[in-house]
Amino acid sequence: MNDVAHRGAAIYIKPVLGAYDLVVVRLSNSVAWRCPRDLMLEQYDDHLGPNHLDVGPGTGWYLAHSKRAPDSMITLMDLNPHSLDSASAHLGTVAHRTVAADVLDPLPESIGPMDSIAANFLVHCLPGSWSEKGEAFRHLADRLTDDGVFFGGTILGRGVDHNLAGQGLMALYNKLGVFHNRDDDAPGLEATLRVAFQDVTVRVVGTVALFTARQPWR
Ligand SMILES: C[S@@+](CC[C@H](N)C(=O)[O-])C[C@H]1O[C@@H](n2cnc3c(N)ncnc32)[C@H](O)[C@@H]1O
Repeated sequence: MNDVAHRGAAIYIKPVLGAYDLVVVRLSNSVAWRCPRDLMLEQYDDHLGPNHLDVGPGTGWYLAHSKRAPDSMITLMDLNPHSLDSASAHLGTVAHRTVAADVLDPLPESIGPMDSIAANFLVHCLPGSWSEKGEAFRHLADRLTDDGVFFGGTILGRGVDHNLAGQGLMALYNKLGVFHNRDDDAPGLEATLRVAFQDVTVRVVGTVALFTARQPWR
């Protein structure tokens, strides 16, 4: 168990999650990070497979609004039970299950193999350098099918221009330990994904790196 990760994720209590979709998904994404939610929703629409794992779903806004196959099965994995409850409520009658686990630890045996795995706005929350964050990529690559896709977006701290709103939020969230991304850069993300996956794309929009990773190394 990673204490720093648990302390950071502890902010996602019910009132915070209640405001999350408006304040973070809608406003911060467009105004501070300059990567509107529709671009990330597009990734979900393009990549969601029939057996999907969502790591760090938060409120589950993207899953709830994405185009899913009618018979899809979604696994929600998060170390915070409030996030699991919130995402589960958002999904309603859509087939899903919840698993409480830390992506920095080896994943529970019950997870996988998955056709698609999303980690949206998770990587900037993970503590440590790229090699420590890369542990999570290796755990997820192990549970992806050979022709599956891992995708998501993450806010960068280096090599991008943060506007005033972004600078303020970066300072606040890093101070609170909710973000750990001051040193996160796009080349580092791509190189770290390539340790676990053979086929990687990284595209920077505003201050967010949107990534896909396929063909896990076995
Ligand atoms: C910033 S929210 C992202 C929510 C949503 N995916 C989005 O794109 O808006 C981060 C989520 O990741 C979870 N989380 C943080 N660290 C984690 C870890 N080490 N393992 C699993 N979940 C984690 C938090 O509890 C929270 O639900």
